[in-house]
Amino acid sequence: MKEQETCGVGAPRLQVIHLASGNPHKVQELQRLADESPASRLLHLSIVASERMPEVAEDTGTFVGNARKKAQALQALLPPGAWVLADDSGVCVEELGGAPGVESAYFAGPQHDSAANLRKLTEVMRDVPAGRRAAYFFCVLILRGPGGAEQIFEGRCDGTLAPEPVGGAGFGYDPLFIPTGYECTYAQLSEVEKNKISHRGRAWLILADYLSKLN
Ligand code: IMP
Repeated sequence: MKEQETCGVGAPRLQVIHLASGNPHKVQELQRLADESPASRLLHLSIVASERMPEVAEDTGTFVGNARKKAQALQALLPPGAWVLADDSGVCVEELGGAPGVESAYFAGPQHDSAANLRKLTEVMRDVPAGRRAAYFFCVLILRGPGGAEQIFEGRCDGTLAPEPVGGAGFGYDPLFIPTGYECTYAQLSEVEKNKISHRGRAWLILADYLSKLN
């Protein structure tokens, strides 16, 4: 596949972004966000999942640091000039001092078991009353271009934790998270509805605005 095309003068034109994620749910959400984005249509941009995404230790202690590691790891395997997009995200619970936060993927242990993570958060919060269940999802997207030039975009969605998991859509902690202004969890929303308000959807909007000014 052609990585880029030149548009006659100036910098190479951005047409393909490789997703630096091994999480199929994130890939699906980001691809749908891109598909429905006027900026992508304007640029004839495609966001492609990468089969070459390597395992990356998420050990930097920050969303930005972990996202950067993922982006760098994939970029190192692609032809020079390739653009990559990495996501690092998680849920931050006020009562837990912001945990699990950057450690959301391995809250219940190093095996990255999202059902166990969800069970653990449900249990840890079991006796916490309604007024102390504030939480937010946070997402960092890092876009890296040729030469390692990097742009960082952040999105946040505030809400509260439900007493028990509810809903079958989405992934991860979705069944426990009630976004502010809603009476249902992320996991009771369609992907389109979730994308409109989610931490990832909000980060994407800022990225799309950046992209629309690029070419
Ligand atoms: P990481 O970004 O690879 O560290 O993984 C983030 C972890 O946070 C995922 O494994 C999920 O458990 C959780 N997470 C991130 N975004 C979402 C989301 O949109 N819904 C539910 N859980 C999420």
